[in-house]
Amino acid sequence: MSAVAHKPLLATVLGERQERPPIWIMRQAGRYLPEYRELRAKTNGFLDLCYTPELAAEVTLQPLRRFPLDAAILFSDILVIPDALGQSVRFEAGEGPVLEPVSAETIGQLQPERALEHLAPVFETLRRVRAGLAPDKTLIGFCGSPWTVATYMIGGRGSPDQAAARLFALQHPQAFAALMDVLVQTSIDYLVAQFAAGADVVQLFESWALNLDDEAFARQVIDPNRRIVEGVRARVPYAPIIGFPRGAAGNIAAYVAATGVNAVGLDYATPLEFAAKHVPAGFTVQGNLDPLRLVAGGAQMDGRARQIIAAFADRPHIFNLGHGIVPETPIAHVERLVDLVKNG
Ligand code: CP3
Repeated sequence: MSAVAHKPLLATVLGERQERPPIWIMRQAGRYLPEYRELRAKTNGFLDLCYTPELAAEVTLQPLRRFPLDAAILFSDILVIPDALGQSVRFEAGEGPVLEPVSAETIGQLQPERALEHLAPVFETLRRVRAGLAPDKTLIGFCGSPWTVATYMIGGRGSPDQAAARLFALQHPQAFAALMDVLVQTSIDYLVAQFAAGADVVQLFESWALNLDDEAFARQVIDPNRRIVEGVRARVPYAPIIGFPRGAAGNIAAYVAATGVNAVGLDYATPLEFAAKHVPAGFTVQGNLDPLRLVAGGAQMDGRARQIIAAFADRPHIFNLGHGIVPETPIAHVERLVDLVKNG
């Protein structure tokens, strides 16, 4: 035995294929768990939970107490970045996030110099989780990718087509570039600090990589993600990074080739054959079960999970959903899925 424990999920990110794929579940801590709902009901709000290390660490570990998952993911949110930059961010029950939108005139008022101090509780959460985590489990940190975070900062809330942010990028290219610069630099500092606090791997959540033509995709998705990967690696050499460009579709090969991520998360609409063909052989993939199959369970879940495992059997593969788990998910189905992935 070497002194350093083998972490199958981390090893897979770094390109080592495992006999069975390791597994974690996107948004694995959350409302489908009664113990999360109970703890959440006692807090003063969702952001408060994110900034209270004792509780955030507890919530991070909750899913691992129930299921033999291979990783814990930091409990936080992608919108702590605009909050840390001084933008007003609220989470409203039944509505999701609500922000005071930035404009071409107010982007200059963001305060990157205060961001890391504001995010200090997140680093404390990571240190606590690290201390409570078995040595073979991987600790995943994360941030939202600049474009995805910008869609909320500009639009003020989630939207089905991100029209406000897409139009802003076209009509105010200079202000948009300035916003990307702030987000790239803040994200680099944030992720470097997450590694220092104990993260083994970080994931870049580009949840709104869809609805972009290839020119916009290159400018708004590929370029900022590439700059983050380079900026982090300049300070944390060989930092293991997973990119999740949800909806990248035909842009996936360009994303993989140009960003420098170690592994790519596939959304559930990515055909298995397409991924096998357009993500280079030997490159690590993560995904990509439809979260609603986990709600349905039974043959709809088992059959597709087996297809996914078979499709990526010849390369390093991390099993996951193709987007976040939904609150209606029965816990028994999660137990079954983890057992199927681990034991066949
Ligand atoms: O995966 C985990 O367990 C870690 C925690 C995590 C959360 N959000 C907790 C959360 C992570 C990794 C995220 C990322 C996140 N947040 C993304 C990217 C991933 C994705 O799903 O596309 C995005 C787009 C957000 C922004 C966000 N946060 C939205 C749109 C919402 C409201 C919708 C919803 O699901 O409620 C949130 C709130 C949120 N983030 C909750 C949780 C557990 C629910 C809030 C609550 O408990 O009241």
